[in-house]
Amino acid sequence: MIIAPSILAADFSRLAQEAQAVEQTADWLHVDVMDNHFVPNLTIGLPVVTSLRPATSLPLDCHLMIENPDRWALGYAEAGAYNVTFHAEACEDPAALAGQLRSAGSLAGLAIDRDTLIEPYLDLLPHFDTLLIMTIKAGFGGQEFMPELLEKVRVARAHARSGHLNLRIEVDGGIDEATIAAAAEAGADAFVAGTAVYSASDPGAVCRKLRSLAEL
Ligand code: DX5
Ligand code: ZN
Repeated sequence: MIIAPSILAADFSRLAQEAQAVEQTADWLHVDVMDNHFVPNLTIGLPVVTSLRPATSLPLDCHLMIENPDRWALGYAEAGAYNVTFHAEACEDPAALAGQLRSAGSLAGLAIDRDTLIEPYLDLLPHFDTLLIMTIKAGFGGQEFMPELLEKVRVARAHARSGHLNLRIEVDGGIDEATIAAAAEAGADAFVAGTAVYSASDPGAVCRKLRSLAEL
């Protein structure tokens, strides 16, 4: 199981310390890249990932909410991202980009936004290591979890099981102590949490609590 705190909710002036606060209890550090085109919000980009890479031992899980991921995704792999996830809605040939990411040495992730069906993408899943199912509409932290979106997790997990795929299914948006168990029960095995972790006085302890709640 992967607990991935999102630095979107961290203090951007102290990113190295914010990463260190969860280093003992998290598995990945989730980095939300937004370009104000794919989503109506602008966050951080490649230079921040390059600077953050040596500042933490946690694998960096880069979630690209950007147009034209073909132009940018490989740069994140080359900057040392462990997993690079781009959105299905933004990419013409997801399998090809996934292949390039794997060749560049990172895992490849496919993200599905709130209003996108999972079914058209099921056949592409063998090309991916990670499937990120949004449990909100992508763009902002601090939104309310939408339990109805877990149906996509159930469909994807059943498909992965029947096809013997080694696929991580990551949920992102509104994951906290009240919602994580339902996501785990639906078949997710990686959990992004921004506000729940970084609004707490002890972010490391929240990660430990989330992990215990996700254990079925
Ligand atoms: C939103 C991002 C999320 C965000 C989650 O589009 O992809 O990763 O940081 O934040 P919370 O956990 O606050 O919903
Ligand atoms: Zn994210």
